Amino acid sequence: MPVVFNTVGDLREFLNATRSQGKTIGFVPTMGNLHQGHLDLVNKAAEMSDVVIVSIFVNPMQFGPHEDFDAYPRTLESDCSALANHPCNAVFAPTVREMYPKGVNTEIDVPSLSTILCGHHRPGHFKGVATVVTKLLNIVQPNVAVFGNKDYQQLQVIRTMVADLLIPVTIVGADTTREPSGLAMSSRNAYLSKEERETAAMLYATLKNIGEALRSDSQVSTTLKQEKERLTSAGFVLDYLEIRDAQDLSKSYVEATSAVILVAAKLGQARLIDNLVVELKH
Ligand code: PAJ
Repeated sequence: MPVVFNTVGDLREFLNATRSQGKTIGFVPTMGNLHQGHLDLVNKAAEMSDVVIVSIFVNPMQFGPHEDFDAYPRTLESDCSALANHPCNAVFAPTVREMYPKGVNTEIDVPSLSTILCGHHRPGHFKGVATVVTKLLNIVQPNVAVFGNKDYQQLQVIRTMVADLLIPVTIVGADTTREPSGLAMSSRNAYLSKEERETAAMLYATLKNIGEALRSDSQVSTTLKQEKERLTSAGFVLDYLEIRDAQDLSKSYVEATSAVILVAAKLGQARLIDNLVVELKH
């Protein structure tokens, strides 16, 4: 079992001892309820560093007033059991009070990225993410921090924030881990019924169909329209299905070297997101 620290002070003591032995630190921030996607990030962090820290913290600041903060699954014990079979040395599982001892007085925001796409549908969400990730990076001070490409916009927010604030860490993006059906693994898949879970696999098929059209530069807008209709008929309520520049998420992807197809949709109780990056030939 990895050792679990609940306070900033205890974790810092462990990390100082680790650094004084000349060891490098890899960090994987999570909200827990770990699945194979999270565990793949842990493996990746271990390939690049001597000691791996996983944080498990359901961050209230990134949930909207009507979102699933209370319902979000909290499974620390089984998470630690899963981590015991992976190269994780320590878990940081703070309370809300430990992370926000004086509430929220300082916020980190990347407005150009945090107000579009998911940010438009979840106002304040990326401000909450950027603020908590800054705090976590300040606590752990890792050499490397690993995030999933699954949350593509989140990763771009974090990369931009780290560059702008000159935070001394290497940010690594890791491939999305999928179910055999193609469905991107997510803690929120637990909200899907058996039938909805089968339907949910359509999201990745949609991304691949649009990816094909993009690569062959044929009928892109027709394909996009057809795929939107197909998803809606299957019961999805679409927040967006869009093609953007993969670097800055601007709408003008046509001249870009790579594009990203991003989708966010509600299916039953679950809000699902996925994306596919496509290299463009010019
Ligand atoms: P959470 O949703 O728990 O995800 C933690 C990390 O796991 C994120 O970097 C996310 O992109 C990655 N991840 C999730 N599903 C994945 C999958 N199927 N394949 C690969 N990686 C996957 O994202 C958050 O928590 C929070 O916003 C956080 C960054 C911890 C800040 O609170």
